Amino acid sequence: MAVDLLLGLQWGDEGKGKIVDVLTRNYDIIARFQGGPNAGHTLEFDGIKHVLHTIPSGIFHENAINIVGNGVVIDPVIFKKEIDNLDKFNIDIPSRMFISRKAHLILPTHRLLDAASEAAKGKAKIGSTLKGIGPTYMDKTGRNGIRVGDLELDDWKEKYRALADKHEAMIRFYDVDIQYNLKELEVEFFAAIETLKSLKFIDSEEYLQQALKSEKTILAEGAQGSLLDIDFGTYPYVTSSNTTAAGACTGLGVAPGKIGEVLGIFKAYTTRVGSGPFPTELFDEVGETMGRVGNEFGATTGRKRRCGWLDLVALRYAVQVNGVTQLMMMKADVLSGFESLKVCTAYNYRGETIEHLPFNIEEQNISPIYTEMKGWDKDLTNITSESDFPEELTAYIDFIEKELEVPVKIVSVGPDRKQTIMR
Ligand code: GDP
Ligand code: IMO
Ligand code: MG
Repeated sequence: MAVDLLLGLQWGDEGKGKIVDVLTRNYDIIARFQGGPNAGHTLEFDGIKHVLHTIPSGIFHENAINIVGNGVVIDPVIFKKEIDNLDKFNIDIPSRMFISRKAHLILPTHRLLDAASEAAKGKAKIGSTLKGIGPTYMDKTGRNGIRVGDLELDDWKEKYRALADKHEAMIRFYDVDIQYNLKELEVEFFAAIETLKSLKFIDSEEYLQQALKSEKTILAEGAQGSLLDIDFGTYPYVTSSNTTAAGACTGLGVAPGKIGEVLGIFKAYTTRVGSGPFPTELFDEVGETMGRVGNEFGATTGRKRRCGWLDLVALRYAVQVNGVTQLMMMKADVLSGFESLKVCTAYNYRGETIEHLPFNIEEQNISPIYTEMKGWDKDLTNITSESDFPEELTAYIDFIEKELEVPVKIVSVGPDRKQTIMR
């Protein structure tokens, strides 16, 4: 048995939550392996829209166990809110979701540090979701972090105090105007810790090894996207974890040889939220239309997402770094009505044509080289079979498959679970 991976191939928000939900019926275990509540994963069914931040997207299915893996960073306050939001849906969460003892905790002061760091950067800010992700991973790699398993030990509050005091000194060092009342934040934090402690803590790497031995099927759910990866993304405008396939090995304790299918998910166009380079970004009516039709607003922060044409150079890079074996194309419906569609197949980089992502992507250095394709008019949202695709959509998919040399196995034509076409 192997662990399949589902990963975003762009700058996040590709539709991971929707597809994990659709695929959960085929899996016994859904495991998140990195990121934290900077993620916003949207699921829609029975006319209800759910947004999950830390909870894996398999939570609505009775057949699956959901695991929050060691690579994830958990903000107990946000986690509690997510759990409370699910109250009305009668889900027995403690029997369906287990937490790795090795996952790190986001403290209130990590969030404050995130805000201070961004304020100090001024115009050069990352555009962080301000959920404390960067500072928490810094404490993890700096070997100062507090882990979920520490909550089972007697001295964790002393550790907490020492770290929070250090963080306060660091906030003062930034010399920016951050207003806060730590006492109030701590009341909320310690109450949320009690909710977290009501869940089962496990050694998730051991749990998954046993699951593999007993032939359970496992899907690892990625957060963010490959172009936000700390090593391979558009650094420094990235998140602080490995969002790519290797991150699933370190974030769950699964050996590389145990990875099975790598499912790469992308939008039929491109979006990005926050700062950083985006070669195919559109600043015109076409980009506005994509954003409006695609309802491109961040699921975590509500920020307007930047929109642009599909970038096959960036996508090819993500396919290679991850070893993608199957592609899933989302939001095809959003492209209906454009007379022609553009797809970036190379860049003009300082006067040269290149087909790879260069080290230094800066707007003034790079411009996309497009192939133009015919668009389609047909509304796709009620289509249930590939045979009803307009021929221009089929040509669009064929072109992508040819360029990336990986088959497109799912085409999504709307946000609902049902609006999913398997090929
Ligand atoms: P994630 O972070 O990768 O899980 O993606 P998000 O949930 O942040 O963003 C994807 C958005 O697109 C959500 O609002 C989804 O409901 C929506 N969505 C997903 N698939 C489709 C689709 O095929 N068509 C349309 N129109 N919306 C979709
Ligand atoms: P999902 O899982 C889109 C972006 C932020 C910012 C950068 C760093 O829903 O796809 P951070 O809070 O991690 O310090 O922010 O990364 N970002 C995301 N963009 N989708 C996400 O998650 C994101 N998580 C972080 O906007 O540019
Ligand atoms: Mg999202």
